[in-house]
Amino acid sequence: MRIGVFDSGIGGLTVLKELIKYHKDNEYIYYGDTINVPYGNKSKEELMGIASNIIDFFISERVDLIIIACGTISSTIFNDLKSKYKIPLYNVIDSTINYINSNNIDNICILATEKTIASHTFKNKLHASNIYEIACPNFVPIIEDRMDKKELDNSLEEYLHKIKNTNINNIVLGCTHYPLISNEIKKYLGNVNLYNMGEYLSKNINIVDSRPKLTIYFSYIYPELKEKIEKILNVNLVSKKI
Ligand code: DGL
Repeated sequence: MRIGVFDSGIGGLTVLKELIKYHKDNEYIYYGDTINVPYGNKSKEELMGIASNIIDFFISERVDLIIIACGTISSTIFNDLKSKYKIPLYNVIDSTINYINSNNIDNICILATEKTIASHTFKNKLHASNIYEIACPNFVPIIEDRMDKKELDNSLEEYLHKIKNTNINNIVLGCTHYPLISNEIKKYLGNVNLYNMGEYLSKNINIVDSRPKLTIYFSYIYPELKEKIEKILNVNLVSKKI
């Protein structure tokens, strides 16, 4: 199948990586919207315009289905996009929510962008009784930028100190950028379970395998970003201007 996958930048690569792991024989086209990153503080109207442009692009590329590898778009405007488009669209959050609900997991913390947390989509859909929600607006700029250790340490302390050494030990990485700092989150919080949405989506999605091919577009690219993408996916990229 020809599958379009998109996010604001490198975050959605954590989803793409899992898709390739579980369904490698497919044609993936990835779009990283680095011109518009971050999505996490944008209005619904802005997100609708941005997502529509990318979906229109994927339709012109004749993809069979589109995976929204972005927690923010999945939790805020997914239903609007579903009503607007006929092409199959998948959000990145439902499979994780289903997994948590069907395994009766409780004592959960959702880490996500401002807009995702403000939507309370996770909290509303989860059956657990003890759910904490924390918006982490600095994480995406840090991850997209130089991954500055001091800035990251300060933000980890700022956002996570309230749940450190508590019984909240199931941490949902509700933004697809956050698996890129899994090690740092685990190091700060100690013995917790982290839920990577790309993994649950990829294990659950029904895809008919075809032939493997990978195409990656970024609306704005620079050498360090190319290196980061290669490191995350463990591939060598050939750049082409369009
Ligand atoms: N990785 C996206 C998400 O899952 C977008 C984050 C952002 O650009 O703020 O929410």
